[in-house]
Amino acid sequence: MATLPARHDAKNMQRVAASLLPPIALETGGAPIYVQVSDWFRRAIAEGQLRPGQRVPSTRALASELKVSRLPIFSAYEQLHAEGYLETFTGAGTCVAATIPQAAADALRRKTRRGASTTPARPAARRMAARATAMAAPPQMWLETQGAFRVGVPALDRFPLRTWSRLIHRHARHADAEALAYGDPMGYLPLREAIADYLAVARAVRADASQVLITAGIQHGLQICAHALLDPGDEAWVEEPCYSGTWQALATVGAVAIQVPVDRDGLDAAEGLRRASSARVAFITPSHQFPLGATLSAARRIELLQWAARAGSWIVEDDYDSEYRFDSKPIASLQGLDADARVIYMGTFSKVMFPALRLGYLVVPKDLLPGFRACRDAMDTCSPTLSQKALNDFIREGHFARHIRRMRGLYAARRTALLDAIAKHLPHTLQATGADAGMQLSALLPDGTDDMAVSQHAAQIGVSVRPLSQCYGHPGARSGLIFGYGSVDERAIDAGVRSLKRVVQQYTG
Ligand SMILES: Cc1ncc(COP(=O)(O)O)c(C=O)c1O
Repeated sequence: MATLPARHDAKNMQRVAASLLPPIALETGGAPIYVQVSDWFRRAIAEGQLRPGQRVPSTRALASELKVSRLPIFSAYEQLHAEGYLETFTGAGTCVAATIPQAAADALRRKTRRGASTTPARPAARRMAARATAMAAPPQMWLETQGAFRVGVPALDRFPLRTWSRLIHRHARHADAEALAYGDPMGYLPLREAIADYLAVARAVRADASQVLITAGIQHGLQICAHALLDPGDEAWVEEPCYSGTWQALATVGAVAIQVPVDRDGLDAAEGLRRASSARVAFITPSHQFPLGATLSAARRIELLQWAARAGSWIVEDDYDSEYRFDSKPIASLQGLDADARVIYMGTFSKVMFPALRLGYLVVPKDLLPGFRACRDAMDTCSPTLSQKALNDFIREGHFARHIRRMRGLYAARRTALLDAIAKHLPHTLQATGADAGMQLSALLPDGTDDMAVSQHAAQIGVSVRPLSQCYGHPGARSGLIFGYGSVDERAIDAGVRSLKRVVQQYTG
C-alpha cells in the first residue's frame, strides 16, 4: 500500500467524491466486461477526466451501479493497478495513481496540443451572442487586489458572525419540508413584512409587504427591472457617470442607454428630456449618486416624478448605501414622494451585512407585481429560504439596527481618516467629492490624467482604486479615482494613500 504524497492530500481528493459513479456504458455482446471497464478508466485518466490522486468508486459500488457481478470489476481494477493507473493509498482507498503511466501522459499531451491548435481555426463555429462579447470587460486589476481601497466592501471583520451563525444553525436544524422545497418567487413573507416595516421608518417608503420582492441583491434587481420594463431597442436614462452594473442590465435586454449628465444636484432631468423625452425608464441613485456622491435636489426630484407621470415612464431608484449618512440629515426615498406609483425602489443587504449573502429587495408598484414576479421566477425561481429566515430573525431581534448604528460610527471615522490622508499626502492633486454618505468617495485628478493607468499601476503595489473614467459611457470623461473605505482601518488608510502618492505623482508630473 502506498502512502499518500503531500500534494494529493485528503482535501484534494474530495474534488470528486468516490461515491460519484462514472458513466460507463457497457456494450452487450462486446468485449468482456473487465476489458470495457479497464478501457474506460485508461481513457478517462489519459484525457484528464479523472485526475491523479482522485478516488475511484469501490468495486462493490461500481458493480452495483453497472448491474454486474463484482468479479469483472475486481479484474479490471487489478489490471489497472498492475499497469500503474491505480494505486491504493493508506486511509484513502483506491485512487488514480499520483504519477500516471507514460502512455497516458503522452496521450493527454497530444490531446491538449490538438485542442489548442483547432480552436482558433474555426472561430465562426464558436460564435457567442453579441451582448456577451460586448460585456466581456478587459482585465480590471484593481478588482483583483484585496487591500485598501476596494469599492463596495463593508467592514467584514466587524460583522456579528457568531450571532449570524447561531441564526443559520437555528433554521438549518429545524428545517421542515416548506423550508427545503421551492420557495415563493416573491420571497419569504415574514422577511418581506420586516423589510416593509424597516423601509417605512428608515426610508419613508410607502408600501406594504405584498410589494416587496426579495432579490439576490441590487444587481439582480436591475436585471429584473430591465426584463420587466424594457423591450429591445427601448431607451433608458442612465446617470453619467454611473454604476456599470446598470449598463450590463440594459445590455442583456438589448435596451439603449441614454447618458444623462450628473451635476452637484444629481441627475440633470432637463438634459434627459432634451436627449430622450420618451425614454421608458430612468435608472438613478438619488440618495448618494454613484460614483460622484451628489444627492438629488428636491427640485430635481419633483421634475423627475412629473416627467415620469407625464411620459408614462418608470424610475428605478437604486438606494444601495443610504443606511450610512454622516453630515446631513437622512434623506427620504424618492419612492415616498411618488404620488403616481412610477418608482421601483431597490435596496440591498450587501453593504449592511456582507456581499456574499446575495439578498436585496425591490419595492414594486402593485399593478406591476404579476410581471415582476414572472420575470423573477423565470430567472432563478426564488431566493434561498434558509438565509431569508435567518435574516428575518436578524432584523426582528434587533441585530440589524444595532449593526447599522455601530458601522455608521466606524465608517464616519474611516471617511475622516481618508479625507485627512488625501489632504496630507496629495493636497493639490486629488479633490475629494461625494463623501457625505456610504462607504466610498471619489477624488478628481487633474484633467487629462490617465486614471486607468494610475489604477493599473496602483493595483501592482496592492492598492485598489477604481478609475472614475470607467463609469462614463463616452470618451473625454472626467479623470479620478474611486476609494472604498468600508473595509480599511484607519492606519491602513494612511499607509494606502501614502503608497498611492508615489504612483499618482508619476502620472501627474
Ligand atoms: C450603485 C450600486 N448599485 C448596486 C450595487 C450592487 O449591489 P449588490 O451587491 O446588492 O448587487 C453596487 C455595488 O457596489 C453599487 O455601487
